[in-house]
Amino acid sequence: KQRVLTGITTTGTPHLGNYVGAIRPAIAASEDPAFESFYFLADYHALIKCHDAERVEQSRREIAATWLALGLNTEKAVFYRQSDVPEIPELCWFLTCMAAKGLMNRAHAYKAAVAANEEAGEDPDYGITMGLYNYPVLMAADILMFNANKVPVGRDQIQHIEMARDIAARFNHHYGDHFVLPEAVVDDKVATLNGLDGRKMSKSYNNTIPLFLPEKKLKKHINKIKTNLLEPGEAKDPDTSTVFQIWEAFASDEQVSEMRQKFADGIAWGEAKRELFELINGQIGESREKYFELMERPADIEEILQAGAVKAREHSAPLLEKVRRAVGLKPMS
Ligand code: TYM
Repeated sequence: KQRVLTGITTTGTPHLGNYVGAIRPAIAASEDPAFESFYFLADYHALIKCHDAERVEQSRREIAATWLALGLNTEKAVFYRQSDVPEIPELCWFLTCMAAKGLMNRAHAYKAAVAANEEAGEDPDYGITMGLYNYPVLMAADILMFNANKVPVGRDQIQHIEMARDIAARFNHHYGDHFVLPEAVVDDKVATLNGLDGRKMSKSYNNTIPLFLPEKKLKKHINKIKTNLLEPGEAKDPDTSTVFQIWEAFASDEQVSEMRQKFADGIAWGEAKRELFELINGQIGESREKYFELMERPADIEEILQAGAVKAREHSAPLLEKVRRAVGLKPMS
Protein backbone atom coordinates (compact mmCIF):
# COMPACT_ATOMS: atom_id res chain seq x y z
CA LYS A 1 0.00 0.00 0.00
CA GLN A 2 1.08 3.56 -0.69
CA ARG A 3 1.51 5.75 2.34
CA VAL A 4 0.16 9.28 2.57
CA LEU A 5 1.41 11.62 5.29
CA THR A 6 0.92 15.26 6.17
CA GLY A 7 1.15 17.60 9.14
CA ILE A 8 0.04 21.04 10.26
CA THR A 9 2.08 23.31 12.50
CA THR A 10 0.29 24.06 15.75
CA THR A 11 0.72 27.80 15.84
CA GLY A 12 -2.69 29.07 14.80
CA THR A 13 -6.30 28.38 14.01
CA PRO A 14 -6.83 26.24 10.89
CA HIS A 15 -7.85 28.38 7.94
CA LEU A 16 -9.34 27.83 4.50
CA GLY A 17 -5.83 27.53 2.98
CA ASN A 18 -4.87 24.66 5.30
CA TYR A 19 -8.18 23.02 4.53
CA VAL A 20 -8.07 23.07 0.76
CA GLY A 21 -4.28 22.66 0.48
CA ALA A 22 -3.78 19.83 2.93
CA ILE A 23 -6.65 18.63 5.12
CA ARG A 24 -9.29 18.08 2.43
CA PRO A 25 -7.07 16.05 0.06
CA ALA A 26 -5.62 14.15 3.01
CA ILE A 27 -9.04 13.11 4.31
CA ALA A 28 -10.06 12.06 0.79
CA ALA A 29 -6.91 9.93 0.49
CA SER A 30 -7.58 8.33 3.88
CA GLU A 31 -10.88 7.03 2.53
CA ASP A 32 -9.20 5.37 -0.43
CA PRO A 33 -8.33 1.74 0.35
CA ALA A 34 -5.22 2.02 -1.83
CA PHE A 35 -3.60 4.22 0.82
CA GLU A 36 -2.47 4.01 4.40
CA SER A 37 -2.50 7.44 6.02
CA PHE A 38 -0.47 9.21 8.70
CA TYR A 39 -1.63 12.66 9.78
CA PHE A 40 -0.13 14.61 12.62
CA LEU A 41 0.02 17.80 14.64
CA ALA A 42 3.44 19.33 14.07
CA ASP A 43 3.97 20.70 17.57
CA TYR A 44 7.77 20.47 17.55
CA HIS A 45 7.64 22.64 14.44
CA ALA A 46 5.43 25.10 16.30
CA LEU A 47 8.29 25.97 18.66
CA ILE A 48 10.25 27.39 15.75
CA LYS A 49 7.83 30.24 15.27
CA CYS A 50 5.88 30.51 18.48
CA HIS A 51 7.20 30.83 22.02
CA ASP A 52 3.80 31.20 23.60
CA ALA A 53 3.11 27.87 25.33
CA GLU A 54 -0.60 28.50 25.72
CA ARG A 55 -1.00 29.38 22.08
CA VAL A 56 0.73 26.16 21.04
CA GLU A 57 -1.54 24.13 23.26
CA GLN A 58 -4.71 25.87 22.14
CA SER A 59 -3.74 25.53 18.49
CA ARG A 60 -3.02 21.84 18.93
CA ARG A 61 -6.52 21.34 20.27
CA GLU A 62 -8.06 23.38 17.46
CA ILE A 63 -6.19 21.51 14.76
CA ALA A 64 -6.96 18.11 16.26
CA ALA A 65 -10.65 19.01 16.59
CA THR A 66 -10.63 20.22 12.97
CA TRP A 67 -9.41 16.92 11.55
CA LEU A 68 -11.87 14.98 13.67
CA ALA A 69 -14.81 17.28 12.93
CA LEU A 70 -14.14 16.91 9.22
CA GLY A 71 -14.62 13.19 9.61
CA LEU A 72 -11.13 11.74 9.70
CA ASN A 73 -11.59 8.08 10.56
CA THR A 74 -8.97 7.45 13.23
CA GLU A 75 -9.60 3.72 13.15
CA LYS A 76 -8.12 3.69 9.66
CA ALA A 77 -5.75 6.65 9.65
CA VAL A 78 -2.90 6.99 12.13
CA PHE A 79 -3.53 10.37 13.77
CA TYR A 80 -0.95 11.59 16.25
CA ARG A 81 1.03 14.38 17.78
CA GLN A 82 4.61 14.76 16.54
CA SER A 83 5.89 15.27 20.10
CA ASP A 84 4.47 11.89 21.16
CA VAL A 85 6.89 10.12 18.84
CA PRO A 86 10.39 10.44 20.35
CA GLU A 87 11.86 8.56 17.38
CA ILE A 88 11.25 11.66 15.23
CA PRO A 89 13.75 14.00 16.93
CA GLU A 90 16.23 11.17 17.13
CA LEU A 91 15.92 10.48 13.42
CA CYS A 92 16.18 14.22 12.88
CA TRP A 93 19.68 14.08 14.35
CA PHE A 94 20.77 11.27 12.01
CA LEU A 95 19.41 13.23 9.08
CA THR A 96 21.02 16.45 10.30
CA CYS A 97 24.34 14.68 9.97
CA MET A 98 23.49 13.83 6.35
CA ALA A 99 21.95 17.16 5.32
CA ALA A 100 24.20 19.52 3.41
CA LYS A 101 24.42 22.97 4.98
CA GLY A 102 24.40 24.47 1.49
CA LEU A 103 21.02 22.85 0.91
CA MET A 104 19.61 24.39 4.09
CA ASN A 105 20.95 27.82 3.06
CA ARG A 106 18.49 27.67 0.19
CA ALA A 107 15.38 26.97 2.28
CA HIS A 108 12.66 29.58 1.63
CA ALA A 109 11.68 30.08 5.26
CA TYR A 110 15.25 30.81 6.29
CA LYS A 111 15.97 32.95 3.26
CA ALA A 112 12.82 34.99 3.84
CA ALA A 113 13.89 35.67 7.43
CA VAL A 114 17.34 36.83 6.28
CA ALA A 115 15.80 39.02 3.58
CA ALA A 116 13.44 40.62 6.10
CA ASN A 117 16.38 41.40 8.39
CA GLU A 118 18.35 42.93 5.56
CA GLU A 119 15.42 45.04 4.53
CA ALA A 120 15.05 46.28 8.10
CA GLY A 121 18.76 47.12 8.22
CA GLU A 122 19.41 44.47 10.90
CA ASP A 123 22.15 41.87 11.14
CA PRO A 124 21.10 39.15 8.62
CA ASP A 125 20.92 36.51 11.38
CA TYR A 126 18.99 38.66 13.82
CA GLY A 127 16.41 36.55 15.67
CA ILE A 128 17.05 33.45 13.54
CA THR A 129 17.32 30.29 15.61
CA MET A 130 18.88 26.97 14.71
CA GLY A 131 15.31 25.67 14.89
CA LEU A 132 14.36 27.74 11.87
CA TYR A 133 17.53 26.77 10.06
CA ASN A 134 16.95 23.08 10.70
CA TYR A 135 13.21 23.21 10.01
CA PRO A 136 13.45 21.25 6.72
CA VAL A 137 15.45 18.47 8.37
CA LEU A 138 12.85 18.01 11.10
CA MET A 139 10.23 17.90 8.37
CA ALA A 140 12.27 15.29 6.51
CA ALA A 141 12.33 13.23 9.71
CA ASP A 142 8.52 13.46 9.95
CA ILE A 143 8.15 12.14 6.44
CA LEU A 144 10.93 9.54 6.32
CA MET A 145 10.04 8.14 9.75
CA PHE A 146 6.93 6.60 8.19
CA ASN A 147 8.33 6.01 4.72
CA ALA A 148 5.61 8.12 3.19
CA ASN A 149 5.20 7.93 -0.58
CA LYS A 150 2.87 10.90 -0.97
CA VAL A 151 2.64 14.16 0.93
CA PRO A 152 -0.43 16.33 0.20
CA VAL A 153 0.53 19.97 0.79
CA GLY A 154 0.12 23.51 -0.49
CA ARG A 155 2.68 24.95 -2.86
CA ASP A 156 4.73 26.60 -0.08
CA GLN A 157 5.84 23.18 1.19
CA ILE A 158 7.08 21.65 -2.08
CA GLN A 159 10.66 22.74 -1.53
CA HIS A 160 10.73 21.02 1.87
CA ILE A 161 9.60 17.75 0.37
CA GLU A 162 12.25 17.99 -2.30
CA MET A 163 14.79 18.51 0.45
CA ALA A 164 13.45 15.44 2.25
CA ARG A 165 14.01 13.44 -0.95
CA ASP A 166 17.51 14.77 -1.21
CA ILE A 167 18.38 13.89 2.36
CA ALA A 168 16.78 10.44 2.02
CA ALA A 169 18.74 9.72 -1.16
CA ARG A 170 21.95 10.72 0.52
CA PHE A 171 21.24 8.55 3.55
CA ASN A 172 20.35 5.58 1.35
CA HIS A 173 23.50 6.08 -0.67
CA HIS A 174 25.67 5.86 2.43
CA TYR A 175 23.87 3.33 4.54
CA GLY A 176 21.69 1.25 2.21
CA ASP A 177 18.06 1.54 1.20
CA HIS A 178 16.21 2.55 4.33
CA PHE A 179 13.99 5.35 3.13
CA VAL A 180 11.34 5.82 0.48
CA LEU A 181 11.78 8.99 -1.57
CA PRO A 182 8.60 11.00 -0.91
CA GLU A 183 6.63 12.97 -3.46
CA ALA A 184 4.60 16.15 -2.91
CA VAL A 185 0.98 16.00 -4.03
CA VAL A 186 -0.25 19.46 -4.92
CA ASP A 187 -3.61 20.34 -6.40
CA ASP A 188 -2.83 23.17 -8.83
CA LYS A 189 -6.24 24.72 -8.45
CA VAL A 190 -5.78 25.42 -4.75
CA ALA A 191 -2.00 25.27 -4.35
CA THR A 192 -1.89 28.77 -2.95
CA LEU A 193 -5.16 30.11 -1.69
CA ASN A 194 -5.07 33.87 -1.19
CA GLY A 195 -6.22 35.67 1.92
CA LEU A 196 -8.21 38.79 2.78
CA ASP A 197 -5.57 41.18 1.41
CA GLY A 198 -4.89 39.18 -1.78
CA ARG A 199 -1.55 37.79 -0.59
CA LYS A 200 -1.14 34.08 0.21
CA MET A 201 -3.46 33.18 3.07
CA SER A 202 -1.12 32.73 6.01
CA LYS A 203 -1.07 32.90 9.77
CA SER A 204 2.00 35.10 9.52
CA TYR A 205 0.22 37.69 7.36
CA ASN A 206 -2.80 37.82 9.61
CA ASN A 207 -5.05 37.66 6.55
CA THR A 208 -6.73 34.31 7.10
CA ILE A 209 -10.32 33.17 7.04
CA PRO A 210 -10.54 30.58 9.83
CA LEU A 211 -12.28 27.42 8.72
CA PHE A 212 -14.69 27.16 11.61
CA LEU A 213 -16.18 30.48 12.56
CA PRO A 214 -19.70 31.09 13.81
CA GLU A 215 -21.82 31.82 10.73
CA LYS A 216 -22.03 35.56 11.27
CA LYS A 217 -18.31 35.89 11.67
CA LEU A 218 -17.63 33.81 8.59
CA LYS A 219 -19.88 36.17 6.65
CA LYS A 220 -18.05 39.17 8.07
CA HIS A 221 -14.66 37.75 7.14
CA ILE A 222 -15.76 37.00 3.60
CA ASN A 223 -17.08 40.56 3.32
CA LYS A 224 -13.60 41.80 4.21
CA ILE A 225 -11.93 40.16 1.19
CA LYS A 226 -10.26 42.97 -0.71
CA THR A 227 -11.79 43.81 -4.08
CA ASN A 228 -11.15 46.52 -6.64
CA LEU A 229 -13.50 49.44 -6.89
CA LEU A 230 -15.72 48.23 -9.71
CA GLU A 231 -19.42 49.00 -9.43
CA PRO A 232 -22.28 46.55 -9.93
CA GLY A 233 -22.80 46.10 -13.67
CA GLU A 234 -19.12 46.57 -14.51
CA ALA A 235 -17.42 43.42 -15.82
CA LYS A 236 -14.95 41.93 -13.32
CA ASP A 237 -11.83 39.92 -13.99
CA PRO A 238 -12.16 36.53 -12.27
CA ASP A 239 -8.50 35.71 -12.75
CA THR A 240 -7.27 38.52 -10.50
CA SER A 241 -10.01 38.17 -7.91
CA THR A 242 -9.55 36.52 -4.53
CA VAL A 243 -13.32 36.06 -4.24
CA PHE A 244 -13.26 34.05 -7.46
CA GLN A 245 -10.15 32.11 -6.49
CA ILE A 246 -11.72 30.98 -3.22
CA TRP A 247 -14.92 30.19 -5.11
CA GLU A 248 -12.92 27.90 -7.40
CA ALA A 249 -11.48 26.05 -4.43
CA PHE A 250 -14.95 25.06 -3.23
CA ALA A 251 -17.16 24.98 -6.32
CA SER A 252 -17.87 22.25 -8.89
CA ASP A 253 -16.66 22.82 -12.47
CA GLU A 254 -20.16 23.83 -13.44
CA GLN A 255 -20.43 26.37 -10.63
CA VAL A 256 -17.05 27.77 -11.65
CA SER A 257 -18.23 28.42 -15.22
CA GLU A 258 -21.44 29.97 -13.95
CA MET A 259 -19.54 32.33 -11.68
CA ARG A 260 -17.14 33.21 -14.50
CA GLN A 261 -20.16 34.28 -16.52
CA LYS A 262 -21.55 36.30 -13.62
CA PHE A 263 -18.23 38.13 -13.32
CA ALA A 264 -18.36 38.96 -17.03
CA ASP A 265 -21.93 40.21 -16.52
CA GLY A 266 -20.80 42.52 -13.74
CA ILE A 267 -22.10 40.81 -10.60
CA ALA A 268 -21.94 43.18 -7.59
CA TRP A 269 -19.14 42.35 -5.13
CA GLY A 270 -21.63 42.11 -2.30
CA GLU A 271 -23.61 39.53 -4.24
CA ALA A 272 -20.52 37.51 -5.23
CA LYS A 273 -19.43 37.45 -1.59
CA ARG A 274 -22.88 36.39 -0.44
CA GLU A 275 -22.79 33.47 -2.87
CA LEU A 276 -19.30 32.55 -1.70
CA PHE A 277 -20.46 32.56 1.90
CA GLU A 278 -23.41 30.30 1.04
CA LEU A 279 -21.15 27.89 -0.81
CA ILE A 280 -18.57 27.52 1.95
CA ASN A 281 -21.12 27.54 4.71
CA GLY A 282 -23.07 24.76 3.00
CA GLN A 283 -19.96 22.59 2.78
CA ILE A 284 -18.62 23.04 6.28
CA GLY A 285 -21.72 23.85 8.33
CA GLU A 286 -22.18 20.36 9.68
CA SER A 287 -18.51 19.88 10.55
CA ARG A 288 -18.49 23.24 12.30
CA GLU A 289 -21.06 22.03 14.80
CA LYS A 290 -19.00 18.94 15.51
CA TYR A 291 -15.93 21.13 15.86
CA PHE A 292 -17.46 23.31 18.56
CA GLU A 293 -18.71 20.21 20.36
CA LEU A 294 -15.27 18.59 20.24
CA MET A 295 -13.58 21.72 21.52
CA GLU A 296 -15.61 21.21 24.70
CA ARG A 297 -14.29 17.67 25.09
CA PRO A 298 -10.50 17.90 25.33
CA ALA A 299 -10.25 14.58 27.18
CA ASP A 300 -11.80 12.77 24.20
CA ILE A 301 -9.33 14.39 21.84
CA GLU A 302 -6.50 13.45 24.15
CA GLU A 303 -7.59 9.83 24.21
CA ILE A 304 -7.66 9.68 20.42
CA LEU A 305 -4.19 11.21 20.19
CA GLN A 306 -2.76 8.81 22.74
CA ALA A 307 -4.12 5.86 20.81
CA GLY A 308 -2.67 7.40 17.64
CA ALA A 309 0.74 7.70 19.25
CA VAL A 310 0.72 4.01 20.12
CA LYS A 311 -0.04 3.12 16.50
CA ALA A 312 2.54 5.56 15.16
CA ARG A 313 5.25 4.13 17.38
CA GLU A 314 4.54 0.62 16.12
CA HIS A 315 6.02 1.92 12.88
CA SER A 316 8.61 4.40 14.10
CA ALA A 317 10.29 2.31 16.79
CA PRO A 318 11.32 -0.64 14.59
CA LEU A 319 12.44 1.64 11.77
CA LEU A 320 14.61 3.63 14.14
CA GLU A 321 16.22 0.44 15.45
CA LYS A 322 17.19 -0.40 11.88
CA VAL A 323 18.55 3.07 11.35
CA ARG A 324 20.57 3.01 14.58
CA ARG A 325 22.11 -0.25 13.47
CA ALA A 326 22.78 1.07 9.98
CA VAL A 327 24.73 4.09 11.21
CA GLY A 328 26.78 2.00 13.66
CA LEU A 329 25.02 2.77 16.95
CA LYS A 330 23.79 0.19 19.39
CA PRO A 331 20.08 -0.57 18.93
CA MET A 332 17.91 0.31 21.95
CA SER A 333 16.96 -3.30 22.61
P1 TYM B 1 1.57 24.84 7.78
O1 TYM B 1 1.12 24.55 9.15
O2 TYM B 1 2.10 26.20 7.49
O3 TYM B 1 0.40 24.57 6.78
C1 TYM B 1 -0.30 23.33 6.78
C2 TYM B 1 -0.68 22.94 5.37
O4 TYM B 1 -1.54 23.93 4.79
C3 TYM B 1 -1.00 24.33 3.54
N1 TYM B 1 -1.30 25.75 3.33
C4 TYM B 1 -1.88 26.23 2.22
N2 TYM B 1 -2.33 25.63 1.11
C5 TYM B 1 -2.88 26.41 0.17
N3 TYM B 1 -3.01 27.77 0.30
C6 TYM B 1 -2.57 28.40 1.41
N4 TYM B 1 -2.71 29.72 1.54
C7 TYM B 1 -1.97 27.63 2.44
N5 TYM B 1 -1.44 27.93 3.65
C8 TYM B 1 -1.03 26.76 4.18
C9 TYM B 1 0.50 24.12 3.66
O5 TYM B 1 1.11 24.03 2.39
C10 TYM B 1 0.55 22.83 4.43
O6 TYM B 1 0.38 21.73 3.57
N6 TYM B 1 6.04 22.56 7.78
C11 TYM B 1 4.62 22.37 7.56
C12 TYM B 1 4.04 21.33 8.50
C13 TYM B 1 4.75 20.03 8.46
C14 TYM B 1 4.60 19.03 7.45
C15 TYM B 1 5.49 17.99 7.84
C16 TYM B 1 3.82 18.92 6.30
C17 TYM B 1 5.65 19.59 9.36
N7 TYM B 1 6.10 18.35 8.99
C18 TYM B 1 5.61 16.82 7.07
C19 TYM B 1 3.95 17.75 5.54
C20 TYM B 1 4.83 16.73 5.92
C21 TYM B 1 3.90 23.69 7.81
O7 TYM B 1 4.39 24.56 8.49
O8 TYM B 1 2.64 23.76 7.30
